[in-house]
Amino acid sequence: MPGFELIGAEEQAEINDIFARGGVLFRHGFDALRNDCFKVREFEAAFAAYMKVPHALAVTSGTAALRVALAVLDLQPGDEIITQSFTFVATAEAIIEARAVPVCCEVDATLNMDPIDLERRITPRTRAVIAVHMLGTPARLREISAVCSRHNVVLIEDAAWGCGGSLDGRALGTWGRMGTFSFDFAKTMTTGEGGMVVFQNRADYERAAAWHDHGHENNPTVPRWEDTRSGSGFNYRMTELQGAVGLAQLRKLDDVVRRQRTNRDALWRAIADIPHITGRAVPDGSHETADALVFEVPSAHIARDVRAKLVANGLSTKILPEAVTWHFAGTWSHMPELVQQHGNLANAFPATAERLARCVSLPITVKMDEALPARMRAAIESVIG
Ligand SMILES: Cc1ncc(COP(=O)(O)O)c(C=O)c1O
Repeated sequence: MPGFELIGAEEQAEINDIFARGGVLFRHGFDALRNDCFKVREFEAAFAAYMKVPHALAVTSGTAALRVALAVLDLQPGDEIITQSFTFVATAEAIIEARAVPVCCEVDATLNMDPIDLERRITPRTRAVIAVHMLGTPARLREISAVCSRHNVVLIEDAAWGCGGSLDGRALGTWGRMGTFSFDFAKTMTTGEGGMVVFQNRADYERAAAWHDHGHENNPTVPRWEDTRSGSGFNYRMTELQGAVGLAQLRKLDDVVRRQRTNRDALWRAIADIPHITGRAVPDGSHETADALVFEVPSAHIARDVRAKLVANGLSTKILPEAVTWHFAGTWSHMPELVQQHGNLANAFPATAERLARCVSLPITVKMDEALPARMRAAIESVIG
């Protein structure tokens, strides 16, 4: 889990620095008051350098990051965007908010986008694919990128869970034309609420930067009230307070991921030899953020019993098997746009439904109690063993 476990003096010092230098909380302007203090701008530059991309744009949430990325694409009525059926509801919400048609596909044993099912669902109206790195494990980006190239559709990565992870040494979020991140309070690094979009090319960045700021081009030759504009927009600007916290959290990110991976490995060593459990499939070359340890058991009934036993012992699971409600499109019958596209959602993604029901996901913390692996083992073994 997350940066919130390590939030403290460093974040406080960054916030204090804003007030010591004039207390300007808006990312633009007020130059006479701010003593050259630009936390959001500094956070974007540091994040882009960390990700080894030319541009990064900070926004108000991971959901906003997806919406802003989609604003770059000039979507037309009827354009379809494909994402995976196992994701947080926000991915589909952003597609709907962008007035595109949401299409979901099955996941495979990685619990991320199945590239074969993705290709089956591409139509002449498909404009983009949003691949998600659920629970910190990379999607099959090599295969997904190849499908996108073959069909000339844009790849966007929803790396809300992937911050600090990589595949083949390349950061998650930087394989696609754009990548989006969430810094909500449960993520690997947090700004309370917040998000980031990273870009491979300047034109996309400029379009997104203007769109997330009411269309402002922030033309340096004119005052803001006379600013130039060439398209519509909205307001998804990050505040300086969030930027300050983000700077401190980014410096901790590699350490958070390293400690999560160590704790995940210790937990897996403790339970791996319990009969009938199979670890989640992970693409070769993955560096997972290890937000969770996920494994499959033989039946949905056993998965539910494992969860009940863990809870009875004061332990918990994370999303699987209990919270598919918010994370599986097969349950989103409250979204008419999805129902219109897929019909009866309960039967629309049978492979994903069957697999998710058999999965158990254990939360990984940075500050793990040393006794936890043995307690987890005892609880799981008492159901399966
Ligand atoms: C896969 C995924 N995408 C997007 C989001 C949205 O992020 P936020 O909560 O910052 O809006 C989340 C949040 O959990 C997520 O899990």
